[in-house]
Amino acid sequence: MTYAEGLDPDIPHAARMWNYWMGGTDNFPADRATGDAVAQIYPEIALMARFSRQFLIRAVRYLAAEAGIPQFLDIGTGLPTMQNTHEVAQGIHPDARIVYVDNDPMVLAHARSLASTNYILGDYHDPEAILAEAAMLLDFGRPVAVMFMGVMGYEPDLGVIRSIVDTMLAPMASGSHLVFWDGTNTTPEVVAGAEKLAEMGGVPYLLRSPAELATVFDGLTLVEPGLVEITKWRPAGETEHIDAYGAVGRKS
Ligand SMILES: C[S@@+](CC[C@H](N)C(=O)[O-])C[C@H]1O[C@@H](n2cnc3c(N)ncnc32)[C@H](O)[C@@H]1O
Repeated sequence: MTYAEGLDPDIPHAARMWNYWMGGTDNFPADRATGDAVAQIYPEIALMARFSRQFLIRAVRYLAAEAGIPQFLDIGTGLPTMQNTHEVAQGIHPDARIVYVDNDPMVLAHARSLASTNYILGDYHDPEAILAEAAMLLDFGRPVAVMFMGVMGYEPDLGVIRSIVDTMLAPMASGSHLVFWDGTNTTPEVVAGAEKLAEMGGVPYLLRSPAELATVFDGLTLVEPGLVEITKWRPAGETEHIDAYGAVGRKS
């Protein structure tokens, strides 16, 4: 499955809608209209976008500061907003290497305005092509954090997702990590919100159960606290419920 929407501002666009829900300004009226329609049915979508960024920040900080990971491959990067992967990682290790991957040329056009990072125009359905380019930018002999942050619901087949993750991690050094979160079908409201998104012309997004998402980490050692609601992964304070689960797993 590919996802290529071009730059038409009249068609609701996944990265721009996510940017809108996250409180960013890189979005158009069509993105806001669909974003608002989904939010009417599932108001927590904006919270999910913001909580997901907090999860990214906590996970990348853990990986850079505690696990000593010097390289990050962030696949399905989305539009740059606040506290992107490179800012968090390079805030800890100024020479951390970051490679962003997205299949949307508009996203990469924005990303190119950022210093100190590299970009690959690539589709995660072709992990070998991503690896071939990434191998020129990262040292696979040292640990890499491979990140899939809220992007795998575009692929309806869980087996395909597991195969993509396995292929991506195969050439990576021992001590490499997978960071993964996705929306879950854990309340009727979030399921209705996803249905509304598809109905309004947004790119359909498949929500899965936490048990299904857990299988993506098969063969890896989960870092404490395991696969949990993203708000409950090493939280800084009080946590709120959200229909999204995530984890960090280590390759032996
Ligand atoms: C919800 S947004 C970005 C979320 C972002 N990772 C974050 O944490 O804020 C989803 C992104 O995934 C990208 N994407 C969708 N399908 C993709 C694919 N098959 N390969 C690579 N990127 C993809 C979209 O272009 C979009 O930028």
